Amino acid sequence: MYTEKIKDYKIKDDAVILAIESSCDETAAAVIKGGRHILSSEIMSSSAEHIKFGGVVPEIASRAHTVAISLVVEKAIESAGITLQDLDAVAVTYGAGLLGALLVGVSYAKALAFSLGIPLVPVSHIRGHLSASYLENKELEPPFISLLASGGHTAVIVVKSYTEYQILGSTLDDAVGEAFDKVARVLGLSYPGGPNVERLAREGENNVKLPKMLKGEGGYNFSYSGLKTAVINYKHGKEQRGEEFSKADLACSFQCSAVDILVQKAIEASDEFGINTVTAGGGVVANGYLRDKLLSECQKRGKTLILPPKWLCTDNAAMIGAEGYIQYKKGNFAGIDLNAKARVDLA
Ligand SMILES: Nc1ncnc2c1ncn2[C@@H]1O[C@H](COP(=O)(O)OP(=O)(O)O)[C@@H](O)[C@H]1O
Ligand SMILES: [Mg+2]
Repeated sequence: MYTEKIKDYKIKDDAVILAIESSCDETAAAVIKGGRHILSSEIMSSSAEHIKFGGVVPEIASRAHTVAISLVVEKAIESAGITLQDLDAVAVTYGAGLLGALLVGVSYAKALAFSLGIPLVPVSHIRGHLSASYLENKELEPPFISLLASGGHTAVIVVKSYTEYQILGSTLDDAVGEAFDKVARVLGLSYPGGPNVERLAREGENNVKLPKMLKGEGGYNFSYSGLKTAVINYKHGKEQRGEEFSKADLACSFQCSAVDILVQKAIEASDEFGINTVTAGGGVVANGYLRDKLLSECQKRGKTLILPPKWLCTDNAAMIGAEGYIQYKKGNFAGIDLNAKARVDLA
């Protein structure tokens, strides 16, 4: 019955979409109009509950989502100044992420879409990070080069159209955000690691020699495990010899190595494909050094850089709404049998 009803649904350009995100430790809901305009965006995080464990505990995250989801959705609807009846579709992250956590958002979204008789739009969290660049930005249109730098992924992508992606390269081992998190642990910094490494790096200098990152020989691929091991070895070596060393310098040197190669490969892709617009997405794009470096390198070469604000780089539901709108326009509607997936393809 629901499926029959959705078949006749008329797709609207200015659709008002409620987006729901629950793939990790953030319960988020947002209302997006016409794919780009944020009417509201609410986030409730359980990150404080995970700190003492040094990382996200799936069971704790799932329980926190269950408690938070109704409240977060209600707040998003209210602060958008609409009612549930104004919604044209419900978009939800179905993967990638923690299965139990994803299921909370997926079940909620299914029930809501079903009860309102409107389309349910399945969204990949990874594509969500890439579509964050469209938000509050009327000009951005494919093709453009996108740098994906998150906790689970590192890639340089040609976004050929709203729905076609060409992945030029990705990481052969650790993702850049994962490397930040692991280095944070080694340096004795608490979870979440990335922002803490950035804070410490600000007090240091780039004067520790670390191994060269994969350059030309790697094509557009990345490798972070060697860099991570070098940071560990440097620290252990110093400690074993009883030598003093600056953690801030080590953090700064790591950050430069980890980030410079991302910027370099994104610029190279822009040159090679003759595409002058560059965007970026994913949690690591909240990093100030990465943002400054991308901007200065793009400015030097007359390239247009479009970066989502920091709060749209880390997990949020607005980006799910932006990607949800693209899928909605394509008529990519899910049935009530939609399931959560721990892994989805990069793009
Ligand atoms: N300021 C920052 N500097 C570096 N890394 C950061 C910063 N802020 C967040 N991160 C990293 O971003 C990652 C989380 O980003 P996210 O895009 O949500 O990952 P994913 O969606 O792949 O799980 C974490 O690894 C975190 O350490
Ligand atoms: Mg994420």
